Amino acid sequence: MIDLNLNEKTFKIDAPDEMPLLWVLRDVLGMTGTKFGCGVGVCATCTILENGKAVMACQITLEKTKGNRYTTIEGLSKDGDHPVQKAWVQCDVAQCGYCQPGMIMEACSLLSEVSSPSESAINKAFSNHICRCGTYPRIKQAMSLLVNSGKKE
Ligand code: FES
Ligand code: FES
Repeated sequence: MIDLNLNEKTFKIDAPDEMPLLWVLRDVLGMTGTKFGCGVGVCATCTILENGKAVMACQITLEKTKGNRYTTIEGLSKDGDHPVQKAWVQCDVAQCGYCQPGMIMEACSLLSEVSSPSESAINKAFSNHICRCGTYPRIKQAMSLLVNSGKKE
């Protein structure tokens, strides 16, 4: 049994130590906001926050979560009213939406580290994220909106 600190609550998880956190979230806890893309760390669809920094949930075993604090898209806001979510809506970023929880968590991570990231910092942060719908230009628009408005939390 492992205590998982997730979205400001503690969950007691009865699962194998080596189970990837992505499986714990989706299959054990039923939190399906974090999406499964590749399962091998190459698409970033499963991005969540670990102690405020973007990580890929498919690459972290349950055992390695000890002592860390995690946030998923479900924990970002109650009603989708986090500034990053609002900017995403305003710029109409999502198409199918599948990759967007990971993109939004990446944006939160970057903006918590750098209040006004440069275009190259934004490109670098999102460089490992795959969007089959090609929403990259609108992600950049939403990031510009957030940087220019100074809103991030
Ligand atoms: S599902 Fe985790 S990186 Fe693709
Ligand atoms: S919005 Fe469809 S995969 Fe990104």
